[in-house]
Amino acid sequence: MIYLGSDHAGFDLKEKIKEFLQRENYEFEDMGAYTYDEGDDYPNYALKVCKKVLNGDKEKGILFCGTGQGMDIAANKVPGILAAVCWNEETAKNANKLNVDIITMGGRVTRPEVAEKIIKIWLNPIERDERHIRRIKKVKEIERQFFRHPLFEDDQI
Ligand code: RB5
Repeated sequence: MIYLGSDHAGFDLKEKIKEFLQRENYEFEDMGAYTYDEGDDYPNYALKVCKKVLNGDKEKGILFCGTGQGMDIAANKVPGILAAVCWNEETAKNANKLNVDIITMGGRVTRPEVAEKIIKIWLNPIERDERHIRRIKKVKEIERQFFRHPLFEDDQI
């Protein structure tokens, strides 16, 4: 399942990507915004999507704001979540190598055709090199050093 979220600045891109996901038979759920609201704030939707991704098994998320940056920052604040902002094929390939839970994109900077390519590349199954796994483990260890919660006391993340 792919969970989608956007603020106003990512709203149009999210709507276009929903059509693409439907055409390509990806399973997805839209967590809002459901209407264009100039006053809405991206952290609200980042949190909704992150909770869904954390509650499931092999769940993914795509978050859209104006640049992808606000969503990326918000999502990476949620313990257990790895998010990466993507804007071209190279960054999508890297997001795949890093096996991130969520990618973020910017409606003001990324055209729908490019966003479609990014999604396909990110979700393309690949063998991951040991060095990428090792580095992500180190990133997660940084999180563990700063976040002590019973849920995260074992090796679950
Ligand atoms: C909202 O206007 C905009 O600041 C937000 O969508 C995002 O681009 C922040 O990074």
